[in-house]
Amino acid sequence: MNQLKIKNLKKTYPNGTKALDDVSLTIENGMFGLLGPNGAGKSTLMRSIAALQKPDEGSLFLNDINIIEQANSLRQNLGYLPQEFGVYPRISAYQLLEHLAILKGIHNSKERKELIDYLLERVNLFQDRHKQVKGFSGGMKQRIGIAQCMIGQPKLIIVDEPTAGLDPAERNRFHNLLADVGQEAIVIISTHIVEDIQRLCTRMAILHRGQVAFDGTPQKAIEQLEGKIWQKEIDRKNLAQYQQEYQLLSQRMNLGKQVIHVWSEERPSGFQEAPSNLEDAYFRKLEA
Ligand SMILES: Nc1ncnc2c1ncn2[C@@H]1O[C@H](COP(=O)(O)OP(=O)(O)O)[C@@H](O)[C@H]1O
Ligand SMILES: [Mg+2]
Repeated sequence: MNQLKIKNLKKTYPNGTKALDDVSLTIENGMFGLLGPNGAGKSTLMRSIAALQKPDEGSLFLNDINIIEQANSLRQNLGYLPQEFGVYPRISAYQLLEHLAILKGIHNSKERKELIDYLLERVNLFQDRHKQVKGFSGGMKQRIGIAQCMIGQPKLIIVDEPTAGLDPAERNRFHNLLADVGQEAIVIISTHIVEDIQRLCTRMAILHRGQVAFDGTPQKAIEQLEGKIWQKEIDRKNLAQYQQEYQLLSQRMNLGKQVIHVWSEERPSGFQEAPSNLEDAYFRKLEA
């Protein structure tokens, strides 16, 4: 069992933006979801864990590796897919993985070939291995990104917003691939998409304005709301009035009708109890 211990992490950028404001989390093997809106500090946290950026304060340990002081030891145990993995050289998928495998210290050429073939199979790109990565679709690029994460059997895998920009079928394929990977390592996936967490993660944290607004299982997040979420079908023109009167969590169209969800200890008159779901839990945490 691996353990990542994040303690009292703080980071303020030179322009005064407080990106991490005392973040503490303990994360073990399995899929961990880091959920938060844009600007919450997810990428800052992930770059800090990946030893690409130093926090101002706090400590970071992967097992007994002090990430802040032993960046090289960390890198040997890390697979990282950054949010912007945009620039691809004009080389094939195979060549790209080969290059990265050499960088990760896999010098035996037979062993390296076996590994790369295995990874290409695993991410379902073996057929396309001689095509240029530059010409890949978004989903294929993310799959090659995951393949490079797995080189060297890392203890810690970090994927930063991997599903942004993928179409539903690609997202689905990518979810399945991630679920496969997340067995023997710590896998941290950041996202602003609640459904990613719902489908993949057994543990999660919600990051909001640089702070941990929730830390636990998705189930627990949902249970905390039980009996406190109420729904009503309303006339769109009255939306502003409901927004004023109630703690509105969500408003969405359902079969052409406007349906709102609100948070309340007691049932507001005219409302029905709504089945609790993770999206409401997320919006509630952002409000509170
Ligand atoms: N290099 C930087 N310089 C200044 N501000 C930054 C920098 N990187 C991120 N920020 C700011 O820090 C906050 C957190 O950003 P980020 O960690 O990218 O959040 P997320 O990944 O959740 O969208 C945002 O307000 C962002 O604008
Ligand atoms: Mg980000």
